[in-house]
Amino acid sequence: MRFLSSRRRHPAAKALLLVLGLFVMGALYTVLAPATQVSADTTTSQQVAEGKALFAVGCASCHGLNGEGQVGAGSGVETGGDTTTEIQGPSLVGVGAAAVDFQVSSGRMPLAKPEAQAPVKPNRYTPEEVAALEAYVASLGPGPDVPAPADYDPSGVSAEDVARGGELFRTNCSACHNFEGAGGALPGGKYAPSLYGVPDRRIYEAMITGPQQMPVFSDGVVRPEDKRAIIAYLNTLHSQPNEGGLNLGGLGPVSEGLWAWILGLGTLMGIAVWIAAKGAKAK
Ligand code: HEC
Ligand code: HEC
Repeated sequence: MRFLSSRRRHPAAKALLLVLGLFVMGALYTVLAPATQVSADTTTSQQVAEGKALFAVGCASCHGLNGEGQVGAGSGVETGGDTTTEIQGPSLVGVGAAAVDFQVSSGRMPLAKPEAQAPVKPNRYTPEEVAALEAYVASLGPGPDVPAPADYDPSGVSAEDVARGGELFRTNCSACHNFEGAGGALPGGKYAPSLYGVPDRRIYEAMITGPQQMPVFSDGVVRPEDKRAIIAYLNTLHSQPNEGGLNLGGLGPVSEGLWAWILGLGTLMGIAVWIAAKGAKAK
């Protein structure tokens, strides 16, 4: 102690203290830092290899051997406005595991033949194979991960939030998917599909990956709890029985008001014209 305090004012003491502090920090970090990274990498590298093999067979003909995308003549899928170069399959670098899960589990991919839009069809890959394809594409570049059930499960959403989900749906989605999510046509032979019976996870994945003309709804634009509210709204809407009668396209109070306007005012005007005609005759 005497030794240390006597050398406290030594010119090198400050520098030495700094080095000592850094050393302690480093040691603490190596002890406390999460060590999971390494083990996770070794388990997925096998999946990535499996995914790469599946990709070479089922996807590389359009997306390129390394998922870099391919441009070819006569594939029928055009890049925006440019008619000379046609995309056989877009680059998959950075589209993320969520895009693969969305495309493959809905049967859109592998695309059977060039079309304006990949149709939904039965998925021919097992869950393990889909996971391997996801791991491979995710290894090409960082992108959105497959959401966990906690992200998209709407069971905890309150009734008010379902109503908020309806509002969010009408502002963000109904322009393409129609009121009630019944779907609608888009230019160029494309369409926004009906959202009846679409699984929760796929709705979530559509929002975070933005397939085709659909925009990506990042968490900054539509927060995760808002996405759950939208899913809850669609589920509630589509599980409600149709009570019979004319539902006026399900457009809500606006269309009902419009019908009241046309029918009600139309009748009144008809009566007015009739009275005027009668009155004129009576004179
Ligand atoms: C016949 C050609 C063809 C084959 C085979 C094919 N794709 Fe595609 N893929 C396309 C085209 C064209 C698009 C873009 C149009 C679209 O999204 O509908 C696309 C889009 C995608 C997207 C969406 C990219 C994005 O930006 O979100 C993913 C993911 C994808 N493909 C994965 C796959 C996987 C995985 C396979 C193999 C199981 C596969 N594709 C097989 C042609 C193909
Ligand atoms: C600009 C138009 C547009 C908007 C806005 C839009 N979508 Fe889409 N959506 C599309 C198109 C086009 C597709 C079909 C993509 C494909 O087949 O590759 C689609 C596909 C989907 C699918 C997949 C359906 C299936 O059968 O697999 C879901 C779910 C979906 N959209 C939900 C939403 C939600 C929720 C919103 C609002 C937050 C929204 N969309 C906003 C155009 C749009």
